[in-house]
Amino acid sequence: MAILVVGGAGYIGSHTVRELEKAGQQVWVFDNLSQGHAEAARGDRLIRGDLLDRAALDDALRGRDIDAVMHFAAFASVPESVADPAKYYRNNVVGTLNLLDAMLAAGVTRIVFSSTAAVYGVPDVVPISEESPTRPINPYGFTKLAIERALADYAHAYGLGYAVLRYFNACGASSDATIGEDHTPETHLIPIILQVALGQRESLSIFGTNYPTPDGTCIRDYIHVEDLADAHVRALAKIEPGRGLTYNVGTGVGASVRGVLDAALQITGRPIPAVEFPRRPGDPPALVASSDALQRDLGWSPRYPKIADVIASAWKWHSTHPNGYRSR
Ligand code: UFG
Repeated sequence: MAILVVGGAGYIGSHTVRELEKAGQQVWVFDNLSQGHAEAARGDRLIRGDLLDRAALDDALRGRDIDAVMHFAAFASVPESVADPAKYYRNNVVGTLNLLDAMLAAGVTRIVFSSTAAVYGVPDVVPISEESPTRPINPYGFTKLAIERALADYAHAYGLGYAVLRYFNACGASSDATIGEDHTPETHLIPIILQVALGQRESLSIFGTNYPTPDGTCIRDYIHVEDLADAHVRALAKIEPGRGLTYNVGTGVGASVRGVLDAALQITGRPIPAVEFPRRPGDPPALVASSDALQRDLGWSPRYPKIADVIASAWKWHSTHPNGYRSR
């Protein structure tokens, strides 16, 4: 199959490109390099373009016999989406609708779409199943839910086949530590903790210590990026015209902010000072996936079920690439 990976130079996209190539697929990357890194994509396969540029999308899809699209090119910072929702609606909603239109025009009828646990808002029950109500509490979650709805309607009306993957907290790096997480600015917990361990930041700010959780800090389900990538390859193989699949991708086990910090202290063996701060707007107390459906239907299971192994993988990348891709 020939697959156009939109956002394939970004963090999750680049790891998925590797997994697709391992599975023998022919991959093209479409990326505007606003968040992605040319170093993370093979130069001969990189098409530089923007989701809002319909002509660039048309060019990328036509003439390469593309069979399917994977779409990773979204802004994904919860706090930034609260501060600047227009940026999120424009790229994540308008940009994705543009992509879907271009796909339909080019006769490409299969897509794997990166969605998020943020569509669930504050869940009533944890672990969260795919049937849980979707009630986002931040603009980022709303942008992803809007596209989930569009995909269902497009499947019904135009015969589009799709898989929606609702990621929990992506983290870690490739097992050979040649690609990994490199965001500017960085807002995610694990890379920030490791930057403190490397002496690049003074301390970790713990956002909220009075949540209704055992140690008072937020609980998240940290899913290794290679496990996420594996789920994409499996989901793609199951897509059928006119039908949609929706799966959570998480380990089923949560870790608190303090729990992640403790694991990082052990793995790095370095001091990681932490300072308590008020809650960050838009943060639900606990998000943990039930991935039973993914395991049952796609035969997926996490290769990195333990937070310590995930952090060790991230540490291997960060300690060998202290300035991300600029370290080379
Ligand atoms: N946190 C801190 N200090 C920091 C950074 C984060 O205490 O410096 C806390 C946050 O408050 C949160 C937890 O660590 O409780 C995880 O925060 P991240 O920013 O790493 O991740 P989020 O849970 O906010 O969001 C991530 C993705 C989203 C996705 C969500 C789904 O960025 O795209 O996971 O679970 F929607």
